[in-house]
Amino acid sequence: MRTIYGVFGDPIAHSLSPEIHNAAFSKLGMDCTYHAFRVCKDKLKEALYGAKAMGFGGVNLTVPLKQQALEIVDADPIAKAIGAVNTVDFKEGMKGYNTDGLGAKCALEDKGVRINGSRVLIIGAGGAARAIAFQLATDGADITVANRTEQKAFSLALELSRVRPAKGCGLKDLEELIVSSDILVNCTTMGMYPDKGKTTAFSEQMHSDLTVFDIVYNPLETMLLKEAKKAGAKTITGEMMLVYQGAEAFRIWTGTKPPVDIMRKALLEGLNI
Ligand code: ATR
Repeated sequence: MRTIYGVFGDPIAHSLSPEIHNAAFSKLGMDCTYHAFRVCKDKLKEALYGAKAMGFGGVNLTVPLKQQALEIVDADPIAKAIGAVNTVDFKEGMKGYNTDGLGAKCALEDKGVRINGSRVLIIGAGGAARAIAFQLATDGADITVANRTEQKAFSLALELSRVRPAKGCGLKDLEELIVSSDILVNCTTMGMYPDKGKTTAFSEQMHSDLTVFDIVYNPLETMLLKEAKKAGAKTITGEMMLVYQGAEAFRIWTGTKPPVDIMRKALLEGLNI
């Protein structure tokens, strides 16, 4: 019988996860299908138990359900540390994972970037920054979080220090911080459509040994990445995090190597940019 997967969220109509996963299932000839379901916060528990009872293979969770899911599912240590679950697997009970940070890790590794022992500067302190910071710290990176609202950077760094010592600061010393970084990850909305002309850093501040990863994917080549290229730095575009967070969920559910290129193609077609 066909296995059903899905994404729960509210709103959910814009989600491209069905395109990404259905392209992968189709490519591998798997008898599986993936759909988007509008689920509001106070129905999450019923929706998860219902999906499990109906034999779903697994689900992704998106806004506004990721944090609340921690109270319902058996979350793994990284999802607990991040404080959010985006992938639920129903094989044994109801296991919760967070593949957002894993998506960033895989996107870096895909470009041959070493994480263990690297000095990573994360700009931003919202949900995405948090997922990436915990994942990369767990993988042995030395993290500095720089954020417009300094206090949020301090708080995140303090929490990260449970995993590995980390620093928090504002944006005013960015230049010095970039000089002493191997990887810069932009987790702010700077440079995102319609503010395409904005960037968190300029080429003069960067160096050619740097890897610059912008998680903004509209546009794909942000102003930050253009500046990074000018400086001779390695660049990674934001859709790769999205592709790999989906690919890692696919791997958790199916135990099968995800067809990443097919998933990326489906995402780019769906984004239409
Ligand atoms: P997400 O959950 O997707 O990470 P978020 O929680 O809204 O999104 O976080 C957005 C991040 O972008 C925050 O770190 C925010 O900084 P503040 O904490 O100071 O709000 C950052 N951000 C948004 N606009 C910015 C701007 N114009 N300049 C600098 N940082 C900005």
